[in-house]
Amino acid sequence: PSAGCPEDWRAIHAFCWYLDGERRNLLPTIDRKWALMDQNFLKQQVADAAIERVAAHPDDLLVLGIGTGSTAECFIRGLERLKHRIDTTVSSSERSSDLLSEMGFSVSDLNTVPRVDIYVDGADETNDALQLIKGGGAALTREKIIAAVAERFICIADESKRVATLGAFPLPVEVVPMSRSHVARQLVKLGGQPVWREGVTTDNGNLILDVYGLNIDAPLEIERYINDMTGVVCNGLFAMRPADELLS
Ligand code: 5RP
Repeated sequence: PSAGCPEDWRAIHAFCWYLDGERRNLLPTIDRKWALMDQNFLKQQVADAAIERVAAHPDDLLVLGIGTGSTAECFIRGLERLKHRIDTTVSSSERSSDLLSEMGFSVSDLNTVPRVDIYVDGADETNDALQLIKGGGAALTREKIIAAVAERFICIADESKRVATLGAFPLPVEVVPMSRSHVARQLVKLGGQPVWREGVTTDNGNLILDVYGLNIDAPLEIERYINDMTGVVCNGLFAMRPADELLS
């Protein structure tokens, strides 16, 4: 089948239930494709909603902060129509900067811009207080820096990322390479199971530990506690600086 939208897949799914035996075995494949297409569809929807928010900003020319990940990429591709309103951009990764440059946007060093009007980025998990886990794409440190500067941080994370308590998604922690084992031992003492994301070097030349099984019922305290570990550059909890708005 060459269906192009989730509604098509739903129709095919329903039709398959009328088929018998062998052909019904197609369903697991169809279900996987359907779930993926549904999520891509949701990502596009939240990205489109963010484009509308940017369009509604009262200023004519904006300095836009742009994050990293597949949802952020949907947003970047949709920005084409607002090109005349974007003075310059700052981005949280080489990957997003490259895409922005390819599309003809100016990309600036954060140190050279007077302000960031709006920062738009995705997340791996969100809670009701708009606190986040980020860093699935290893860009957490630059993301946190731009979020700190931004006047408004709009998080675009579809509803599948929403949880009551943060922590089902492993918490990314960026560490200076020589401190990897030391920090991992401290994280074990905190109750987590750190796993080195082997083969990944961040844009800042550091490593990532993904921490499974942490009990994050006090996000502010955990964020500060992990930041204080010697060798930690940054952790993926966005509790001290949550999003200002969540589009989901
Ligand atoms: C990158 C991030 C991303 O925002 C997060 O991983 C979500 O990515 P995606 O939109 O692909 O689901 O924090 O470091």
